Amino acid sequence: MTHENFSQDYLYLNKPVFFDSDSYRLRCFDSHEKMSFAASKFMLDTVNDVLSKRENCFICLAGGNTPVKCYRSFAQDLHKSSSAARKGTIHFFLGDERIVPANHPDSNTKMVCDNLVVPLSSPNVVFHAPNTYLIDTAEIATDYECRIRGLLPIRDDMPQFDLIILGLGTDGHTASIFSDTLGDHEKKGWVLPVAKSLNRAHERITLSLSVINSAHQIMFLISGKEKHPVLDQVLRRNPAFAASKIQPSHDRLLYFVSN
Ligand code: 6PG
Repeated sequence: MTHENFSQDYLYLNKPVFFDSDSYRLRCFDSHEKMSFAASKFMLDTVNDVLSKRENCFICLAGGNTPVKCYRSFAQDLHKSSSAARKGTIHFFLGDERIVPANHPDSNTKMVCDNLVVPLSSPNVVFHAPNTYLIDTAEIATDYECRIRGLLPIRDDMPQFDLIILGLGTDGHTASIFSDTLGDHEKKGWVLPVAKSLNRAHERITLSLSVINSAHQIMFLISGKEKHPVLDQVLRRNPAFAASKIQPSHDRLLYFVSN
């Protein structure tokens, strides 16, 4: 299978398609539910692997709606698991957040609490939510960066997340990295403020491209045929799509895709 026929192959998704290229691994499923269960298992396997070697595991979560079923499935799977995951501590972070109160319907913190943290309600799980109540977005970004800097292992001057989960917008954004904000990611900084725009109702903060690309594993969760052509462009590394810039080495980049 080559790049050219990917859009044909997974646009008419009616069977699981697993494909490894020299720069990423693609896992296609014929339902959102099957994708979510597979992604939840990948999360649990990652946590078990890390906590069999270390006391702490660091996972950065995607916002939006796509990951909801995966997070709920993970909470159930972890409760049933008697493995290493039950002994160590899992530290959850958010890859981006809208600058709204934590109980706002658009809050990623609210989505993660409702679908993962509360269902887990485990002393082995710590959720480090951005503090959106500080003075302004720049302050919120600085505060979050300081907390990451104080908690995560650092290698080559970059924080080492064990797993970063990302979504994909129909405009090709991921986390809160948009084609019109890519320039901001050439500057230093691990967490960046993101201004409102015609397409963005709220100010936001986001992990920087360099932090995301430093993660040990990156897993995209992408559901909906309307996103398949966007993914096609991302897989072709079309620079017009921000998610094309997520380019760690191939064994660290996974795309989970469903109809
Ligand atoms: C955000 C998200 C964003 C999301 C994509 C996909 O805060 O907006 O982090 O990057 O992952 O927009 O969103 P859906 O999963 O809702 O389609």
